[in-house]
Amino acid sequence: TWSTANIIEEQVAKIREQVGEDRVICALSGGVDSSVAAALVHKAVGDQLTCFFIDHGLLRAGEREQVEEDYATTMGIKVVTIDESERFLGALAGITEPEAKRKAIGREFIRSFEAAQRKLIEEAGNDGADIKFLVQGTLYPDVVESGGGEGAANIKSHHNVGGLPEDMQFELVEPLRTLFKDEVREIGRQLGVPEKIVARQPFPGPGLGIRVIGEVSKHNLDILRAADAIAREELTKADMDDKIWQCPVVLLADVRSVGVQGDGRTYGHPIVLRPVSSEDAMTADWSRLPYDLLAKISNRITNEVSEVNRVVLDVTSKPPGTIEWE
Ligand code: XMP
Repeated sequence: TWSTANIIEEQVAKIREQVGEDRVICALSGGVDSSVAAALVHKAVGDQLTCFFIDHGLLRAGEREQVEEDYATTMGIKVVTIDESERFLGALAGITEPEAKRKAIGREFIRSFEAAQRKLIEEAGNDGADIKFLVQGTLYPDVVESGGGEGAANIKSHHNVGGLPEDMQFELVEPLRTLFKDEVREIGRQLGVPEKIVARQPFPGPGLGIRVIGEVSKHNLDILRAADAIAREELTKADMDDKIWQCPVVLLADVRSVGVQGDGRTYGHPIVLRPVSSEDAMTADWSRLPYDLLAKISNRITNEVSEVNRVVLDVTSKPPGTIEWE
């Protein structure tokens, strides 16, 4: 549309003015927001842009491989993957409070990018000191919900806004800061970002770290990853992906309940399914998934993930519940 084309033109001009001849690093997450932000910056400054993908150990099953393939083959954007899972899991050890998790993850993201920046400077050989710009796919709702909007309460520190450390060495490039998700998708389409990426359901930057209620240990993450993979597989098979906004799968690592399997008593953890419908994530309703589909997901998770003996459905709208549990 005319207005979308205008936004693109305006943002490209703004990015060029902000960045000049300098090099830019992009915090690519594989999601819609950072992909469209990267495409915009790429349009503005071409190969002054280097994209990094941080594997923080909080990814869903197969996600890293998927991202590497999508960008290389479909978008022609070269992505440098950096495995920082030890750094993140180390920083998260012992932390259970949601805001503390978000702050720790936000901080380690920046540390990871500083490390990436140093590596890039080294590779440039001499003075790469001009690498100071960091692209982030921050949207308007992220700004509002982190207390950045006018008169807004601080609901959650989204990892790309409130979670930033004070001694950050980057200047941020945030071309989507005034936009909503549907506008971002439209801009992505106009920029030629593949539909597969543009239509992708949202996934939070802090990843599975805010979907383990309790300590974010490797053990708990592995349980959640297995359950999440099953839920996603069945939702896709049932052709639900474009009918719902997203379906967070949450592990209640701090909760146990008694069950029975075979001849024996079990004392396992619950998994929460949180399917939601929404226009812009500011409000949401719980999705009325078919009972047969819910039964299939529940049966498979309790049969295939030995630590889980109960699957529950979250039937809360937003407000009062948020979409994510933390
Ligand atoms: P809530 O839980 O606030 O989520 O209702 C609204 C939407 O935002 C996603 N979300 C995040 N996305 N960084 C992100 O990039 C974050 O820290 C974050 N927290 C929540 C959530 O998945 C939902 O789509």
